[in-house]
Amino acid sequence: MDKSGAERIIQIIRGTGILPAIVFKSCSWIEPLGKIFKQTGFGVIEVLFRNDGAAEAVKGIKEKYPELVVGAGTVLTCDQADAAFEAGADFLISPGFSNALVRYCLEKNRLIIPGCGTASEIQNAYETGLRVLKFFPSERLGGASAIKDYAAPFKEVEFIPTGGIQIDNMDGYMKNDRVLAVGGSFMAPYGLLESEKYDEVVALYEKAAAAAVGFRVDNVGICCRSEDETADEVKRLSKLFGSFTAEKKISVCCGANVKYHYIGGSEEKRYICVRTYSIDRAITYLKARGVEFHCESEIYDAEGNRVCIRLKEEVDGYAVFIIK
Ligand code: 3PG
Repeated sequence: MDKSGAERIIQIIRGTGILPAIVFKSCSWIEPLGKIFKQTGFGVIEVLFRNDGAAEAVKGIKEKYPELVVGAGTVLTCDQADAAFEAGADFLISPGFSNALVRYCLEKNRLIIPGCGTASEIQNAYETGLRVLKFFPSERLGGASAIKDYAAPFKEVEFIPTGGIQIDNMDGYMKNDRVLAVGGSFMAPYGLLESEKYDEVVALYEKAAAAAVGFRVDNVGICCRSEDETADEVKRLSKLFGSFTAEKKISVCCGANVKYHYIGGSEEKRYICVRTYSIDRAITYLKARGVEFHCESEIYDAEGNRVCIRLKEEVDGYAVFIIK
């Protein structure tokens, strides 16, 4: 795998933001799980090498659902790495940092995401050239706030925290731009799989996907065709609800959430801005649900990060923008 192959996998993980880790006790789980991933827009899955059937599960998934990106997790040895790659694994994850295993994978040009839990381990991994690391066991090591601390000195490193993460504590992680994705067993817990409660797995996976994008309405905008119209509208609302803060001459806020804009001759009349933790994740999530985008509407910040994109469809006459 060349660098672009590894980057493509990393981009898919970044777009999904969630990485379910599963011990496949039975290959009969492949089909129902594959269907769930298909219906929720094919992402990434980690098959944990903690039982004899792991390689067989990877092989079965890749044969039936080649679009699904499959990582082999809990890989401890180079022999296990060989078995995983032979079965068709796209990348490897190890719980800790092993120089031998990392070098082996790099020599083979394969993506490995080793686990790190201390500054020294992160630095070791950094020296080998890796920039995407698992942070394990995350909750025990300080969770989202520990990642914030480690992200400061290790500027280019992105983290995949796992260990003790649940839907309820995802938020703190997803807010951090340096969290590539969160991983864990909570999206497809063993108990539900064993009792074949696949509907509950779908519900959990959907909840996790929604928590990863973190959509919330940020502001509603009303666009005026002239400066006079803007002033009139603002006066009218001020009368009703008190005075507003003027952001700029042409943009006025009512509280934090209603904005009047003077936009000259544009046809735009009103819009809703929905904020997300990550535009990449939001695009993946919405595309999987059939949403299309106006690509020419993309806006990038000074660092080259996409911060705004517009949906093709409107909601009740409102244009919809996704913003970061
Ligand atoms: C892993 O290997 O990543 C962890 O065992 C997952 O941790 P969790 O079961 O607490 O989610």
